[in-house]
Amino acid sequence: MARLFFALWPDAGARARLGPLAVELAAAAGGKPVPIAKVHLTLAFLGEVDAERVAAAVEAARSVRRTRFAFALDRAGSFRGARVAWAGCAAVPEALAALAASLGERLAAAGFALEDRPYAPHATLARRIARAVPAAPIAPIAWPVDGFSLVRSEAGTGRYTVLEVFASG
Ligand code: 2AM
Repeated sequence: MARLFFALWPDAGARARLGPLAVELAAAAGGKPVPIAKVHLTLAFLGEVDAERVAAAVEAARSVRRTRFAFALDRAGSFRGARVAWAGCAAVPEALAALAASLGERLAAAGFALEDRPYAPHATLARRIARAVPAAPIAPIAWPVDGFSLVRSEAGTGRYTVLEVFASG
């Protein structure tokens, strides 16, 4: 079994903005900043997947039409229950919603059970926060997308291992 998810990783320009924002949000919320190398935006969360089903997830992702596009993170806030602070989008960008929906459809067709909560794209920047930070606009952080990754989250260490990258055509 492996805990798997599909995600976007920020480029150098976005990382340069997200690093200081993580420190700022962690301070405001009384939490721990996410190390910048771990900052990502999840497209689809698979949860625990049997080793022999990983290939099916890879096949499903390969069949997704992948275009290059860019969007912007323009809002920061927190999820109280999960005790995380994040940067996200005031309105879900169309191309991002389309990518997540297409991936979700292909994964569902391949038999993966996904959440049917509305897609709320966010990059978690601080964890174990002590207090909520009110959602507020931030200076937009451009996030160019030229592909996405299948990632394994290690139980215990929380380390991420990129298993496969699906580049945009
Ligand atoms: P988070 O950053 O808000 O914690 C690896 O754990 C990634 O999958 C993280 O981006 C995490 O979101 C997300 N994730 C974890 N559990 C999830 C769940 N039950 N539903 C959706 N996404 C989840």
